[in-house]
Amino acid sequence: MIIAVDGPTASGKGTIARALAAHYGLPHLDTGLLYRAVGRQVFLSEGNPDDAGAALAACAFPESLLADPELRSEETGGYASRVSVHPAVRAALLERQQAFANQPGGAVLDGRDIATVIAPHADAKLFVTASVSARAMRRWVEMKQLGKDVERAEIEADLEARDERDRNRAEAPLRQAAGTALLDTSNLTKEMAVATAIALVEKQLGEKA
Ligand code: C5P
Repeated sequence: MIIAVDGPTASGKGTIARALAAHYGLPHLDTGLLYRAVGRQVFLSEGNPDDAGAALAACAFPESLLADPELRSEETGGYASRVSVHPAVRAALLERQQAFANQPGGAVLDGRDIATVIAPHADAKLFVTASVSARAMRRWVEMKQLGKDVERAEIEADLEARDERDRNRAEAPLRQAAGTALLDTSNLTKEMAVATAIALVEKQLGEKA
């Protein structure tokens, strides 16, 4: 069984995808981490993330980079969003994601284009969203826990800029695919969001059976 979870930054899609993976006993891939690794690699090699050649070269990042805590930072998120507009970068990461999705037994993947590009044949598809203010609040709490003091307004502006870029890029823009269940987590606790996600997946599986 393949479960696709798409949505904007800090919508709760990662938490939901991890919980779905645990619930159904499936492996999970956070595809944003791959783009973050490319972004981080560009930064480390002092390249320009807007330059397609530099971004493509960074796709050969070492596997150990995936464990770098800096991948979670806002700065790396910004770099990730910039490298992800290049079609060559998306193509370079495609096979790895599709192989993960199509492994025997299935998988849960979360990202921006799982239901539209990586696994349009997924058995269940969720589009997780939340208001910008709810997402900024969550990101702010996360940053605080990491000991980083960032202004909420700054996070909100950054999220809006990233949303804009992710939604309007020519290649694989963020959008809700047909046949995808919408889950707005703005006013839901983590537990409620996970329970709703499981119910939506069950409904889709029931409709397919
Ligand atoms: O989800 P996360 O915030 O970690 O993703 C970082 C960036 O990577 C996003 O802003 C987006 O531009 C890019 N991304 C993407 N396609 C995916 C996952 C992430 O373009 N499947």
